Amino acid sequence: MIQDKIFTFDKEPDFAQLWDKCVYGLLYNMEEYKKDLEKLFVQLEITKDSKIIDVAAGGGFPSLDLIKDGYDIECTDGWQDEVDVFNAKAEKSNLVQRCKILLWKDLQQFFSDDSFDLLLCRGNSFIYASGGWNEMMNIDTQRPLVAYKETLSIFYSLLKPGAWIYLDKFKDDETPHKDKVCDVQVNGKEKEQLIFWTQRFPEQKIRKASMIRKIGNMEASTPNITYDLSGIELEKMLAEVGFQNIKKIKLDSERHFDIWIAQK
Ligand SMILES: C[S@@+](CC[C@H](N)C(=O)[O-])C[C@H]1O[C@@H](n2cnc3c(N)ncnc32)[C@H](O)[C@@H]1O
Repeated sequence: MIQDKIFTFDKEPDFAQLWDKCVYGLLYNMEEYKKDLEKLFVQLEITKDSKIIDVAAGGGFPSLDLIKDGYDIECTDGWQDEVDVFNAKAEKSNLVQRCKILLWKDLQQFFSDDSFDLLLCRGNSFIYASGGWNEMMNIDTQRPLVAYKETLSIFYSLLKPGAWIYLDKFKDDETPHKDKVCDVQVNGKEKEQLIFWTQRFPEQKIRKASMIRKIGNMEASTPNITYDLSGIELEKMLAEVGFQNIKKIKLDSERHFDIWIAQK
């Protein structure tokens, strides 16, 4: 995938600003994705009166856009740069909603059990429940699974009985790749290549993903590293914490990640 697109910035972008451009400008057609989500909402009986929480709201894809359409969504995210992108956009659109900075382990300090009709955790976010988002760390084969289950239990508690979770992750058969996706130019300086790099180490059950900025032979990137969670492991954990009706679903406009829904 070599693209001619160029993302320009006045100032040095942080990870969240760069990712936000990629989500809206390269990876998704927002209108199509929103249409698909709304079809799913009809099936799940989610309406504009439903209480929704997006626990990995990032720069606002897609919850900020749904809020603009009248959906009632609490937005949280664990990283300041992501929250800053979200809140700057919310302010610019004259919305009163803001994204709270909140790690998943702390969600229950702010929200009561049985509060929400739908919990969104999209964008391949859940796999970082035991760390590794924008940081390098050692990954073993035990600790992440414990953290995943603890996190799913917290998500489960926040939902009303009968309510739904929407959670996605990279595809089990994802092939490792290192592709230029577009160019980046900051303040009129020399153009850089933006490269998506995904690596998988099946023996150690490790997956790494980074966005690389490359000028000449110089590469700079922020690491993301996790346990290489399979769909079967995820389904088993969803069931173990109490979820029912666990279904892997397809949305036409979601070409990057596999999606599961499940009911409390
Ligand atoms: C790939 S981004 C997805 C953002 C957005 N939902 C999207 O679809 O573009 C993953 C997000 O998960 C958040 N995240 C990762 N681990 C987290 C944790 N333990 N608690 C809260 N947020 C977390 C990151 O800050 C980041 O915004």
